[in-house]
Amino acid sequence: MPMSHRLTLTQYLIEQRRRFPGASGDFNALILDVALACKAIARAVAFGELGATATPNGAVAALNGLADAGGQTNVQGETQKPLDVISNQVFIKLNEWGGHCAGMVSEELDEPFQIPAPFPRGKYLLAFDPLDGSSNIDVNVSVGSIFSVLRAPQEVVDSGRDITEADFLQPGTKQLAAGYAIYGPTTMLVLTVGAGVAGFTLDPSLGEFMLTHPRIQVPADTHEFAINASNSRFWEQPVKRYVDECLAGKTGPRGKDFNMRWIASMVAEAHRILMRGGVFMYPRDTKDAAKHGRLRLLYEANPIGFIMEQAGGRASTGRQNVLGVQPSSIHQRIGLVFGSRNEVERIERYHAEPAKSERESPLFAPRSLFRD
Ligand code: AHG
Ligand code: MN
Ligand code: MN
Repeated sequence: MPMSHRLTLTQYLIEQRRRFPGASGDFNALILDVALACKAIARAVAFGELGATATPNGAVAALNGLADAGGQTNVQGETQKPLDVISNQVFIKLNEWGGHCAGMVSEELDEPFQIPAPFPRGKYLLAFDPLDGSSNIDVNVSVGSIFSVLRAPQEVVDSGRDITEADFLQPGTKQLAAGYAIYGPTTMLVLTVGAGVAGFTLDPSLGEFMLTHPRIQVPADTHEFAINASNSRFWEQPVKRYVDECLAGKTGPRGKDFNMRWIASMVAEAHRILMRGGVFMYPRDTKDAAKHGRLRLLYEANPIGFIMEQAGGRASTGRQNVLGVQPSSIHQRIGLVFGSRNEVERIERYHAEPAKSERESPLFAPRSLFRD
């Protein structure tokens, strides 16, 4: 049998690094630490009720006694599942050691995490959602982990000082890498280091992520959309219009039928969209005036947005490219629309156009001021 030439994740990263002859290898080492965290979480998730504390040696000590963890409320005001807490610990333990990170931000931690002595501090900032879609854990539906890598300000690297919230407040365009792991029927890691998007499937017998999806591209068009329709009474007019037009199908203005999907695991929706197109919406709505959307900018919207853009898709708040948003706090929430480019751009056009009520107002009547 001929030898397979499938690359491992490590080989892929080495190939990517050849574009930067001066690179130290720290960046690759960081991604490999993140990948190991994802493998450990995949294992914990796969064991389910049998014992979620099955993790690699380095992390075991920290995880002892965590089987009954959870039940606390995190900074998001959400009740943590045991696996939220365990996944967070795995990310922390496997990334504090290597000397690549200057600090971390996690969905599950109120404050930025300081790399403790005696570990050296590095030049990258890591932001992550250790377990996305964790409300699906009890029903055995796919969940995932999401991560984003930023450069630490040079002065932080030079001084080795503690990181602050402000150090992380960089727009998504500054991301050096982003990715997610999906724990589904197979475990996959989907990664961008700024040169397209590559998908790796975990070979459980080797314990290696193997490159199976080298250049993922999101189809520009789709007839599939994903939104939590139970929020429809809170939607803004442009979102209502878009969804109404999809629902009207062949007989409506779109002239084609649409399918709807909602998994309530953004990683799973993002993955479906990368594989076959689609559009995902968790838009800003009027449900809670204090929250501008459901999803978090730094460790959900930005990494997924970077991946979509690198795969030829688009991610938006509805009003602007999400990657251009200047964050104001580490746990900031934002409206998010992503996926097939033509659909996302259509939704942005609907946000930019005057609302129907305005279009029907006297100002837009024939020969009036705003008539086009
Ligand atoms: P998390 O589990 O990290 O809190 O994120 C869940 C997110 C996202 O994955 C999903 O799309 C959305 O919340 C689900 O929201 P609904 O509960 O409104 O369906
Ligand atoms: Mn999440
Ligand atoms: Mn989460």
